[in-house]
Amino acid sequence: MKNILAIETSCDDTSVAIVNSKAEVILCLTASQDLVHEPFGGIVPEIASRNHTKHLLPLVEKAMDTSGLSWKDISGIAVTNRPGLVGSLIVGLVTAKTLALAYEIPFIGVHHIEGHIMAPFLRDDEYKGPDFFKDPFLALVVSGGHTQLYEVNGFGHYQVLGQTMDDAAGEAFDKFAKMMGLGYPGGVQVDRLAKSGNIKAFSFPRPLLNEDHFNFSFSGLKSAAQRQLEKLPQDKDEPLVADLCASYQQAIVDVLCGKLVKASFDKGIKNVIVSGGVSANSSLRNHLQAEAEKNGWQLAIPPLRFCTDNAAMIALAGHFRLQQGDQSSQELAPQARAEL
Ligand code: KG4
Ligand code: ZN
Repeated sequence: MKNILAIETSCDDTSVAIVNSKAEVILCLTASQDLVHEPFGGIVPEIASRNHTKHLLPLVEKAMDTSGLSWKDISGIAVTNRPGLVGSLIVGLVTAKTLALAYEIPFIGVHHIEGHIMAPFLRDDEYKGPDFFKDPFLALVVSGGHTQLYEVNGFGHYQVLGQTMDDAAGEAFDKFAKMMGLGYPGGVQVDRLAKSGNIKAFSFPRPLLNEDHFNFSFSGLKSAAQRQLEKLPQDKDEPLVADLCASYQQAIVDVLCGKLVKASFDKGIKNVIVSGGVSANSSLRNHLQAEAEKNGWQLAIPPLRFCTDNAAMIALAGHFRLQQGDQSSQELAPQARAEL
């Protein structure tokens, strides 16, 4: 295997990457649509797919030009084909199929979550991820659409230990930010504002934290925040906003860390990875590092650029898939929902 070119268009970011067989990211170019969707307070699927059609081919051309590689140097094309917004997925999928056909390169459809699980094992000039763990590991994937905890027993072998029963962790951040009028996407704003706040200023629930399973639930936390906000003045000064953000964020961090620690104890597994957009959260990262030191974990969290949606993680998943002999046909369809 030489280099894998990957395309990720499952949601609102258009991303193209080239990754080599040593998991080294040669380049990863991403066109964000945050500003386009911001006025709507969330992603508008029709606008997302239209923007993918505008950005994708120029990004592929730029990737090839910048890397100095020719299509002969590309041994496989990986593309996210599930799960996601069908109108968005189809833009990436049709483009990948066309490139595969035109340049006679094998292509592979990748599950978006498998991509997130691979993200910590990427490398570039500033980040040297570990080699893919040989022993079983726990993978917590926390994003705008997913909150899933897996036990991974080698590439391609995933057992769900727990998942969200309602909102995803990223959604809990985004909906709270919307209630607070902080803009979209909200996670990064809450993270920034929480830095100067007091985590004990407000007491928010930690849903399901002490239950004897690994499922998550965030809708009760969101309702508790709504009730709290109704009691407060519409115009909030900066310290009050900071306290609300810090207290709310801490509730999410406690639940995510608590469940992971419990799973590590119950399963006797000390290799842990955390990935997905919410793993960019600075407080979550700090708490996870502290747990890693306390419990002797080998912990891998990707740098911010590989936490949120990106094509490099899809390239690495595609590389492993192609290496084990998987290949997709031109009939491959996009899927809005799909289990890993
Ligand atoms: O993985 P991702 O880019 O897209 C999905 O597959 O959903 O995750 C996006 C989510 C959004 O909900 C966003 O608010 C959240 O990740 N996010 C954060 C932070 N940065 C992004 N949440 C908390 N703190 C952050 N720093
Ligand atoms: Zn994602």
